[in-house]
Amino acid sequence: MNVTVVILAAGLGTRMKSRMAKVLHRAGGRTLIENVVATSLELTSAERIFVVVGHQADQVRQAVTTPGIGFIEQREQKGTGHAVLVGREALEGLGGYLVIVYGDGPLLRAATLRRLITAADASGSAGVLLSAHMEDPTGYGRVIRNAEGHVAAIVEQKAGTPEQLAVREANMGIYCYRAELFWKHIGEMRPDNPAKEYYLTDMVTILRRAGHSIDALELPDPQEALGINDRAELAQADRILRERKLREVMLAGVTVQKPETVTIDADVTIGMDTVVEPFAQILGKSSIGENCRIGSCAIVDQSELADEVEIGPFTLVNASRVEHGARIGPFARLRFGNQVGEAAHVGNFVELKNAKLAAGAKANHLAYLGDADIGTRTNVGAGTITCNYDGTHKHKTAIGANVFVGSNSTLVAPIEIGDGAYLAAGSVITENVPPDALALGRARQALKPDWARKRRARQKK
Ligand code: UD1
Ligand code: CA
Repeated sequence: MNVTVVILAAGLGTRMKSRMAKVLHRAGGRTLIENVVATSLELTSAERIFVVVGHQADQVRQAVTTPGIGFIEQREQKGTGHAVLVGREALEGLGGYLVIVYGDGPLLRAATLRRLITAADASGSAGVLLSAHMEDPTGYGRVIRNAEGHVAAIVEQKAGTPEQLAVREANMGIYCYRAELFWKHIGEMRPDNPAKEYYLTDMVTILRRAGHSIDALELPDPQEALGINDRAELAQADRILRERKLREVMLAGVTVQKPETVTIDADVTIGMDTVVEPFAQILGKSSIGENCRIGSCAIVDQSELADEVEIGPFTLVNASRVEHGARIGPFARLRFGNQVGEAAHVGNFVELKNAKLAAGAKANHLAYLGDADIGTRTNVGAGTITCNYDGTHKHKTAIGANVFVGSNSTLVAPIEIGDGAYLAAGSVITENVPPDALALGRARQALKPDWARKRRARQKK
């Protein structure tokens, strides 16, 4: 079925009390607009998805990273009908079904929209709208049905008679129209209301007047159509989206301990039999392999973990790649641009930045490895520091395979250490070390026999 989706996202959202356009706020680990785009992509191709932008148009455009999505600029916000009208040129020729949704409604499911499209297709009507019976429909347009059960009109809160306002069936503002009929009659919309706005809801009356019928599909769970207006609703949507994501990963074979404490962003993928411990956060476009363990309070952001990787508690992994069987943490920090090789170990209080540890390399305790390349099975002792910054520029440290870096070594970059070399503990290494050599760069130890005993004797007197 030929479906075009138009996402209305031109409004500012005054009640957010924000300098940022409403749809740029985040829920479930994505901006509101990205959530709606992701749902739309389950229905149709990017080339048939259009976002109507107005307030902070450029920022909203930038937030939509999927290639191919179209944008329609609504310079002045003259109502929901006007928002679609401005896209006429781009949209009119596309035919099929026209689905209209809001950019501030991140909870709507693709399955619901599919039901809406199916309903429009099966009925002989010009369009179907989503409605819901609400305890308190105040603020919503009311769905007024005729004797046959078709929709006769949508009456806005401000314009309704007491009798109409008593109707509890509310318009969710989500529609599926037969595109050809919609565009044929859109020119009949008039801003003839106190707000002088073009109301999209008027299309119901317009199409009926032209001899067509409009149907309403009732949403069993009105929460799905929740539009975000303020930060409290934003938090509510965030909670719901996160619960959905947790459920999805758990049903896909991931153990999540105390899921109510765990944060997993929408774009994260996690393999089977991975265990996520309490209070862990997995963020951004991270992908986690099978049979991994993400420790309590660890944060994995924008990173790729192969299978069988263990991230210990209180560990930060940012913009890095970790290979099969590697162990990181507890209390480690991978800042960005790191590659940790197969079965490598990065222990507590080790910081990596732009570092590459080859397979089987180890840095088990207290080290800073920045702009460093570390060969296979090399052991980096506790307290090792790469001095990668000379106050002006960053320099590289290259350490070969099977090197032994003694504890508390200071490696002043740029520097190269050959395969199989041995650096004595406590050395300050300022010159390249050839393969298999021993480098010793520390003051010779002095020894004064009996010195301590004599001192104690002196102090007693
Ligand atoms: C609209 C419906 C109402 C429905 C409600 C559901 C109309 C006239 N009324 O009312 O029947 O119950 O939604 O939430 O359509 N927008 C633009 N450009 C504009 C105006 C709005 O892009 O010029 C966008 C907004 O950013 C927002 C959405 O459209 O995301 C809805 O606009 P809003 O003004 O909130 O409509 P409601 O008054 O809530
Ligand atoms: Ca609204």
